[in-house]
Amino acid sequence: MAQLRISVIVGSVRDGRISLPIATWVMDRIAARAEFDAELLDLAEWDLPMFAEPNPPATGRYTGEKQRAWAEKIGTADGYILVAPEYNHGMSGALKNALDTVYAEWGRKPVAFVAHGGMGGARSVEQLRQVAVALAMAPLSSAVHLQGAAKLREGDRFNAGEIEDRRLSALFDELLWWGRALNAARGGN
Ligand SMILES: Cc1cc2nc3c(=O)[nH]c(=O)nc-3n(C[C@H](O)[C@H](O)[C@H](O)COP(=O)(O)O)c2cc1C
Repeated sequence: MAQLRISVIVGSVRDGRISLPIATWVMDRIAARAEFDAELLDLAEWDLPMFAEPNPPATGRYTGEKQRAWAEKIGTADGYILVAPEYNHGMSGALKNALDTVYAEWGRKPVAFVAHGGMGGARSVEQLRQVAVALAMAPLSSAVHLQGAAKLREGDRFNAGEIEDRRLSALFDELLWWGRALNAARGGN
């Protein structure tokens, strides 16, 4: 069976963000799973402009250069893992902007969340699930919620413990199930 192509999206763009070490941990663990072919998408590197396109993305009429490049990139994935911080009881603006920038490319694909914050990023994930449904995505019911993530950080590294690793592995299992099911339903492999 073909590998499932997963984009791991870093949902924070600020200096010193913990989302990047967490995303690096996710990438490290997913690389050990032969069923996946994962790619890191760092929104700080993508530097997507604040959405200001003339056409709603649902029309499919993309005009901006970055919008087109983002559409192509998002379109190649079979599913997504969003590494999501919680800002003021919600998702980060960078993540919402990245989601808003294109439309059809997200649709009928699973999205999983690895969130962090005082409440494990729970409120951010609840909002993200609503947005994912608006984009015709299939948000997973389980998520990895990291509470006190800063304590596990050592510079660029996120030193996950056994519990975090186990939860992430369970998330991969669920993502694999949905990813394969939806690929088949879309007529893929
Ligand atoms: C603008 C802003 C708002 C925040 N609001 C919340 C919040 O509502 N709940 C929470 O648990 N943490 C909140 N935090 C703390 C973040 O969860 C914490 O700073 C985390 O490291 C942010 O992720 P990042 O480092 O990847 O940007 C906030 C941080 C910022 C910068």
